[in-house]
Amino acid sequence: MAEKSRILVIGGTGYIGKFVVEASAKAGHPTFALVRETTASDPVKGQLVEKFKSLGVTVVHGDLHDHESLVKVIKQVDVVISTVGFQIPDQTKIIAAIKEAGNVKRFLPSEFGNDVDHSQAVDPAKSTFADKAQIRRAVEAEGIPYTYFSSNCFAGYFLPTLVQPGATAPPRDKVIILGDGNPKAIFNKEEDIATYTIRAVDDPRTLNKTVVLRPPQNIYSFNELVTLWEKKIGKSLHKIYVPEEKILKDIQESVIPINIFLSINHSIFVKGDQTFEIDPSFGVEASELYPDVKYTTVEEYLDQFV
Ligand SMILES: NC(=O)c1ccc[n+]([C@@H]2O[C@H](COP(=O)([O-])OP(=O)(O)OC[C@H]3O[C@@H](n4cnc5c(N)ncnc54)[C@H](OP(=O)(O)O)[C@@H]3O)[C@@H](O)[C@H]2O)c1
Repeated sequence: MAEKSRILVIGGTGYIGKFVVEASAKAGHPTFALVRETTASDPVKGQLVEKFKSLGVTVVHGDLHDHESLVKVIKQVDVVISTVGFQIPDQTKIIAAIKEAGNVKRFLPSEFGNDVDHSQAVDPAKSTFADKAQIRRAVEAEGIPYTYFSSNCFAGYFLPTLVQPGATAPPRDKVIILGDGNPKAIFNKEEDIATYTIRAVDDPRTLNKTVVLRPPQNIYSFNELVTLWEKKIGKSLHKIYVPEEKILKDIQESVIPINIFLSINHSIFVKGDQTFEIDPSFGVEASELYPDVKYTTVEEYLDQFV
């Protein structure tokens, strides 16, 4: 059997990054995490770093902005996965370090959301997605082997409230539905996203491709999601539909970060940006590639809130 690639995660102490580090280590990949020194000594994140170590992860101190540290650690690995959050444009630093190191077989820039090459988002989401697309173009221009992992909605961000603004639990009386509620969206549990990501890194079928995670049982329109929830709680909810014009007005009139969330939700639930056709020339679907992965379905995920 071929040896498993050595994986470096940059952003491993972040929300999605911690799942990716854990999935990599558990799948038997020699795993490295680039962690800022101040983060390693932070009381909360420090515990996460200790957990990484207990899983056999090699924790390396460094920073996106410290070129030497980046090149040094990148030279020790085969695959680089970035899970940085607000630092999307700064990933040009990773690209430069990968170029200098010259040994990387695959780079996965920070994506983990909508496919940014198939987006009808309005600002401010439009600009955020454009930043990710620009990183894609820079990776391609440098001839770095890549995989873009488009995970769609993190279950933990969307399902615990059923996308209700300001809520801390799913609705029990009334529910606000964006648009007509008919476009389909995809919701994936974070652990599953990480599992599929790691499966993709050594796979020749995902080389220079966008991997879209669209498991058949996790595709729901807003209306279908509400119907499923109503069935679970045995109660019909009062439905308030928000027309697109009102959503666009709200986006313009709200401040950061509300306008960011609203514009992302508009792209997903009104424009239906998660269900474009995946043409084999650019993309592959992850649950088709790895049918043996047992993913958590939306139906199962919602049970914890009943
Ligand atoms: N699909 C969805 O529903 C969804 C939801 C949210 C986010 N996302 C996407 O997921 C991706 C990751 O976002 P996230 O929310 O998981 O990110 P996050 O929690 O903000 O984590 C960012 C990570 O980057 C690290 N980092 C920041 N600056 C750094 C630097 N200068 N040098 C080295 N490391 C640095 C942070 O380290 P420290 O721990 O030291 O700060 C942290 O580990 C993004 O592309 C985002 O757009 C998708």
